[in-house]
Amino acid sequence: MDRFVIDGGVALRGRVETSGAKNSALPALAACLLTEDPVILHRIPRVKDIRTMIELLRHMGAAVEDSGNGPLTVTGGANLEPVAPYEVVKTMRASSLVLGPLVGRFRRARVSLPGGCAIGARPIDLHMRGLEQLGARIEQTHGYIEATAPNGLLGATVRFDRITVTGTEDILMAAVLARGETVIQNAAREPEVVDLAALLTKMGASIEGAGTPVIRIQGVERLHGAEHTIIADRIEAGTLAIGAAITGGDVEVAGCVPEHLTALCAKLRLAGVDVEATAPDVLRVRRTGPLRSVDMVTEEHPGFATDLQAQYMALMTQAEGIAIVSERIFENRFMHVPELARMSASIRIDGNQAIVAGPRRLTGAHVMASDLRASASLVLAGLVAEGQTIVDRVYHMDRGYENIEGKLAGLGARIRRERE
Ligand code: EPZ
Repeated sequence: MDRFVIDGGVALRGRVETSGAKNSALPALAACLLTEDPVILHRIPRVKDIRTMIELLRHMGAAVEDSGNGPLTVTGGANLEPVAPYEVVKTMRASSLVLGPLVGRFRRARVSLPGGCAIGARPIDLHMRGLEQLGARIEQTHGYIEATAPNGLLGATVRFDRITVTGTEDILMAAVLARGETVIQNAAREPEVVDLAALLTKMGASIEGAGTPVIRIQGVERLHGAEHTIIADRIEAGTLAIGAAITGGDVEVAGCVPEHLTALCAKLRLAGVDVEATAPDVLRVRRTGPLRSVDMVTEEHPGFATDLQAQYMALMTQAEGIAIVSERIFENRFMHVPELARMSASIRIDGNQAIVAGPRRLTGAHVMASDLRASASLVLAGLVAEGQTIVDRVYHMDRGYENIEGKLAGLGARIRRERE
């Protein structure tokens, strides 16, 4: 297992390019199952979760041509085996994204129930209820979901009891080939949902309202091939922006979408960080003075992203005062806290709130990553800590960040990857 070795104390400076969004590429790859024509996807980040999704598509019989770091061409073809086996799903819960397209086009699917996850139970009950409302029959046996719709899906109103990103994406992909109109209520508004709707529309789907709480879909007979460029990864961009702030640097995060980061930018400005969109796709982040503590609550988009909570918490260890960080999306997303504490951070957990006292001089330590975004938090803390930090199990980070050590080193960070 690889680890990162970081020598802290360098202010990040320079310009860094954002990769395509993992959480947009995953549903986009699943959407390729909705047509037998080739779909060409640009700006797919080459990260572990993408490789897992490609493996799953190939397992089902889809053809995937990977040009290395250029476009990816996926041909769903006519004869797919609509099965997502446990061996694949257990490594990536987002495999449940194939459920909607498989039932929508092949009228059946056999998808392993995702196991638990470090950050919470993360059931997919809302996905299954939604498919039932579209007429599918769902059974759970031997750890698998057996979904069937022998007469095809029928458009209906699907109201989510709570907002779910991949739940919205699953039902959106199931509805595009259903007979009649589907209305999704209490839909997720994340930019990745909007990006998926843009791809599906290029493939011939009829969708209105993506990005709002109500999405209307008119079912069509079939979808055709398309070419699409994935949006920038707002979580990677936000992580790099926090890197500039925590190290007292001056960084241009390029190739990003500033309006996807309004909640983070608002908090950074309140904390005393200079944040400016110097171009439609460039965010310049500069720390010019002491940081102030600012409370934060994670919410569904356009609120503060839960995927930036751990990174923000690392930043607040450097801020003057007390910051209360509340995690409202997942029930167990504070696993970075004990590791940050080993780096001398002062954080107390009270239910779904973490009380961060600062500023604290962090000291380098040997720490362990527990999940994708917690690992980002530990790397950020290592960049500012006194001395050397070793972050074990960086395979967590490799799931969702493309060459993060190269990007940080390009900004002056002293970070290297070691094979354990
Ligand atoms: C997506 O996960 C992202 N993953 C997550 O990013 C992100 O943290 C999350 O949305 C929230 O923004 C992808 O897009 C691939 P949810 P998802 O369904 O869709 C509960 C990362 O770091 N829920 O919006 O699985 C659930 O337990 C990953 O890149 C149900 O109870 O999240 C959670 O508490 C981590 N039943 C809440 O809803 C369901 O059927 C929101 O989950 C579905 C969800």
